[in-house]
Amino acid sequence: MNPLVNTRRVAALAAAVTLGLGGLAGCAKEDTGGTTEGGVTLVKAGALTTCTHLPYAPFQAKDDTGKVVGFDVALVDLVAKKLGVTQEIIDTPFEGIKSGSDLNAGKCDIAAAGMTITDERKVVLDFSDPYFDATQALAVLTGSSVKTLEELAGKRVGVQGGTTGEAYINAQVAEKSLDIEVVSYKDLAAQQQALATNQVEAAVNDLPVWNEYIKTNPGKVVVATGFDTGEQYGFAVKKGNAELLKAVNESLAAARTDGTYDQIYATWIGAKPAA
Ligand code: ARG
Repeated sequence: MNPLVNTRRVAALAAAVTLGLGGLAGCAKEDTGGTTEGGVTLVKAGALTTCTHLPYAPFQAKDDTGKVVGFDVALVDLVAKKLGVTQEIIDTPFEGIKSGSDLNAGKCDIAAAGMTITDERKVVLDFSDPYFDATQALAVLTGSSVKTLEELAGKRVGVQGGTTGEAYINAQVAEKSLDIEVVSYKDLAAQQQALATNQVEAAVNDLPVWNEYIKTNPGKVVVATGFDTGEQYGFAVKKGNAELLKAVNESLAAARTDGTYDQIYATWIGAKPAA
C-alpha cells in the first residue's frame, strides 16, 4: 500500500471526525437554547416553543391536516415573527401550564391556552397584557328546558379540570348549597362528548368555545345561560422573563394598532362585540 495515500486517508478521516464533532457541538448548543436579536432567550434555538392544551377551539385545535391552528396560534405567530423564529406548539395538560411548572422546567417559552388571568395564577406566571375577554356559559342539549343552575338540582354538570369554569361552578355550588354533582373532565373534547352523550345534564366552559362548538355541530347544543365572570385571557411566560414578555406585549400592541388583531379576531371568533 502507498504510505502517502494512507496518511492522507488518515488525515481526511481525522478532519471528518473533527468536523463531525464540530457539527455535533453546534447542534448541542442549538438544542440548549438560543438568543434572538432582541435579547430574548429561547428554550430551543430558532423556535418560539408554546405550551398549550388541546383542543380548545377556536383558540387552539388541530385542523383537518393535524396542524394546530386558532386565535391564540395566530397571535403567537406574530410574536415568533417579530423574534425571527417559528412557533412550535406542545400539547400538554392544563395543570402544568397554569401552575407554571412547564415554563419553569423549560418545556416551553410561552403558554397560550385561552388562559384566564387570575390572581392565583399571577403568583406563578407572568401574564401578558389581556388579549381577549371571556365569560362562562352553561350549555345544554338542544331541547333541554334548563335555564339556570338551580334547575340542575340532583343532576350532573360537566366542567373542564383546572379551569376557571370549574372553580366558578364549585364556588356557586358551595355558596348556594346547590345539590349538583360536578363532574370534571380532563379536556374540552371529553367534556363536550359527555354532554353530547347525556353523561351530564349540562356543561360549563368559556362562552367562545360553546359558540364554536355550535358553529361546527349545528343544532346539538344551546347556551342556556351565561355567567358574567369578566375574564380576560393572557399569554404567560416564566416568572421574570421580562424580555419575552416585552416582545409579546409589543407584538400585541402592534397587532391592535395595525388591524392584524381585528383580522385574526374576524377569522377565528367572528364579528367583534361592540366596544
Ligand atoms: N379560560 C379557562 C381558564 O383559564 C379555560 C382555559 C382552558 N384552555 C385550554 N386550552 N384547555 O381556566
